[in-house]
Amino acid sequence: MPNAQSTFPPDFLWGAATSAYQVEGSPLADGAGVSNWHRFAHTPGRVRDGDTGDMACDHYRRMPEDVALMQSLGLNAYRFSVAWSRVLPEGKGRINAAGLGFYERLVDRLLAAGIQPMLTLHHWDLPAVLDDRGGWLNPDSAHWFAEFTATMVRRLDDRVKLWTTFNEPWVITDGGFLHGTLAPGHRSAFEAAIAARHLMRAHGLAVQAYRANGAHQIGLVVNLEPKVAASDAPADLAARARAEAYMNRQYLDPALLGQCPPELREVFGEAWVDWPEADLALARQPIDYLGINYYTHQVTQHDATAWPVRASGRPQRQSSHTETGWEVFPQGLTETLCWVRDRYGDIPQYVTENGAAFYDPPVAGPDGVHDPLRVDYLRSHLEAVAEAIRRGVDVRGYMAWSLLDNLEWAHGFSKRFGITHVDFATGHRTPKDSARWYAEFIAQHRASQGAQRGCGSSATPRGTSG
Ligand code: BGC
Repeated sequence: MPNAQSTFPPDFLWGAATSAYQVEGSPLADGAGVSNWHRFAHTPGRVRDGDTGDMACDHYRRMPEDVALMQSLGLNAYRFSVAWSRVLPEGKGRINAAGLGFYERLVDRLLAAGIQPMLTLHHWDLPAVLDDRGGWLNPDSAHWFAEFTATMVRRLDDRVKLWTTFNEPWVITDGGFLHGTLAPGHRSAFEAAIAARHLMRAHGLAVQAYRANGAHQIGLVVNLEPKVAASDAPADLAARARAEAYMNRQYLDPALLGQCPPELREVFGEAWVDWPEADLALARQPIDYLGINYYTHQVTQHDATAWPVRASGRPQRQSSHTETGWEVFPQGLTETLCWVRDRYGDIPQYVTENGAAFYDPPVAGPDGVHDPLRVDYLRSHLEAVAEAIRRGVDVRGYMAWSLLDNLEWAHGFSKRFGITHVDFATGHRTPKDSARWYAEFIAQHRASQGAQRGCGSSATPRGTSG
């Protein structure tokens, strides 16, 4: 079997990912408006230990240092998101030049360091003024998002070649509108179903706005988990199908097939309203790639008391789990990438997030942070990506989640996903063993490509060989 490094194509993107509210800090600086996440985090009881994104990783002020860190690791891509409320403090209309300026400086610095920016337009933080108008429950939200998209694209498409509409629309509706664990903190199946439809209308209008103003690539990022039935009992198999429809197909089927999974009627019950044909058509815009966020898989079994998928996960066997309780299951990443290709066709795919929270020992001495479990996690999941490539899947990049320990949403700072340790009191960054391991893996990939080129004719300049 070829080694993993040489399996990846020469132009593969090796990156790390973050999102605005999780790392930036200074949420109200330079004329920014309040976001729904700022408000949520400042509402007592919403985020563990009362943690907020007020400082987070202080990336807003330490951005040059963070780009230098990426460069030192040999990354050639960085996936980040834009805080909408920095650019359009009122959600629409007036542009805040200082807010937009931050992202211009970030992009320029990345490019100067040889790092390709991958820009996500929405990673969950919505201007609070739009939240006050219903947020994703308001049919106008699709137009607000298209305006924001056009604003960003007009300013940055000359330098940014990879754009994403949404990060994980499923989490926005499941956490934000069904279970209330994420902003805006609502708990209504009716609202979750409405928000899902408006998010996909917004995705469609944003892709159209992109085509009208931009010339490169735009895609959608979803989080997927293989769903495995706990047994062959018909009730468990049906639970598995519902869980898959709810999490894995709820957004991809409209975006790529122009239809909603029929199982959603059963999942949502009376809260579900079939989408008008016009909305299905709008959601299905040609996109250039899919981003896949992969963390784990889920074993499902029928549970008449659980809503909405009437299925609950339970580990099938002894297995290792991360600090967030997610089973470490690397082969699920191969399965997921193959499943996407088999169901939706040969669309280019990027692994836009993959990583794990583990307990890391505190930084002690010059030796840094030893995180062997995270090293194993990265190694086994990169091998899983290589296996998908061997099976013919067009995977073009891998972004570790995350570049930095950061604000893990409602878990606050209690869960560390970073390949770089952040001391949240001082802001000091220390690359963990996993960062060094990843840097070495990337270097070996480049060396293996160089060696292959050295053996082949492509290394010889045209016209110079005998
Ligand atoms: C999100 C990240 C989050 C990560 C770990 C993904 O769902 O896109 O923002 O930190 O998972 O939970």
